[in-house]
Amino acid sequence: MTDTIDLMRQHRSVRKFTEEVIPDEKIREFIEAGIAASTWKNFQSYSVIVVKSAETKQAIYKAHNNSATKAVLGCSHFLVFVGDLNRAEIAVKMNGADFQPEGVESLLITSVDASLAAENVLLAAESEGYGGVIMGLLREKSVEISDILGLPDFTYPLFGIALGRPAKINPVKPRLPYEALVFNEKYQLQNEEVINAYDEVQAEFAGARREGSTWSSRIAEQWGKPENNSSTENLKEKKLWK
Ligand SMILES: Cc1cc2nc3c(=O)[nH]c(=O)nc-3n(C[C@H](O)[C@H](O)[C@H](O)COP(=O)(O)O)c2cc1C
Repeated sequence: MTDTIDLMRQHRSVRKFTEEVIPDEKIREFIEAGIAASTWKNFQSYSVIVVKSAETKQAIYKAHNNSATKAVLGCSHFLVFVGDLNRAEIAVKMNGADFQPEGVESLLITSVDASLAAENVLLAAESEGYGGVIMGLLREKSVEISDILGLPDFTYPLFGIALGRPAKINPVKPRLPYEALVFNEKYQLQNEEVINAYDEVQAEFAGARREGSTWSSRIAEQWGKPENNSSTENLKEKKLWK
C-alpha cells in the first residue's frame, strides 16, 4: 500500500480543533493541491471562499444556530465551496452567445467539480496532520449564507470545510461492505438484510454515542420527508433555476 492510499484510508472527519491557526501559506498550499483535481472541460466552475475572521464564522454559525455547525466556530479556517457560473456568464457574453445556465446539468457540473477539488484539499490538509469536516448543512440556510459571503448571480454555496489541528481524533468509520457498494459489470439490487447488517455495524461503531437513531433511520430522516427548500430558493434568486 502506498503512503497516499494509506492516508486516504485513514480519513475520518474532525469536528473538534485546538486553537492552533493554520498558516495562510499552508491553506494556500492545500487549496492549490485541491484545484489540481480534474474538472469538467477544464471549466473550473466553482470558487472557494476562505473564511478566517471570527465575525464571518459567527455570522455563518448564527445563521443556523445549531450545534451541528459548531465546528465552524472552532476551526482555524472555514473554506466555503461555491458552485460558480458567474465567470461562465462573462465568457458566454464575450462570445456573443445567449447565457442559459438553468438546469440539472449545470448543477451537476459545478457541484461535481467543487467536490473533487474539496476532497483533494481535505486530503492535502490531512497529509500534514491537520483535519477537518465537510459541512453541507450550510445549505439549509443557502440564502443567508449567500448574503453573508456576498455571492453574486449564477453562484450558490455547496458546502464548507472546517479545517484545523485535531483536538480529538475519532476512529475510522466503517463503510458499507465492498460488495454492497461495488458491482461487477451490472447493478446488483440490495435488500433489507444489507441495510440491517450495516445498521448493526454502525450501532456497534457508535457505541455509547448511539443516541437512539440508526443509519437507516437517518436516511429516512433525509428522504422520508420533503427536502429543505433553501437551496432551491437561493438557486432561483441567483438565476440558476426557474
Ligand atoms: C457533502 C458532505 C456534507 C457533509 N456535511 C456535514 C455536516 O454538515 N455536518 C457534519 O458534521 N458532517 C458533515 N459531513 C461529514 C459526514 O458526516 C462524514 O463524512 C460521514 O459521516 C463519514 O464519516 P467520516 O468522514 O469520519 O469517515 C458531510 C460530508 C459530506 C461529504
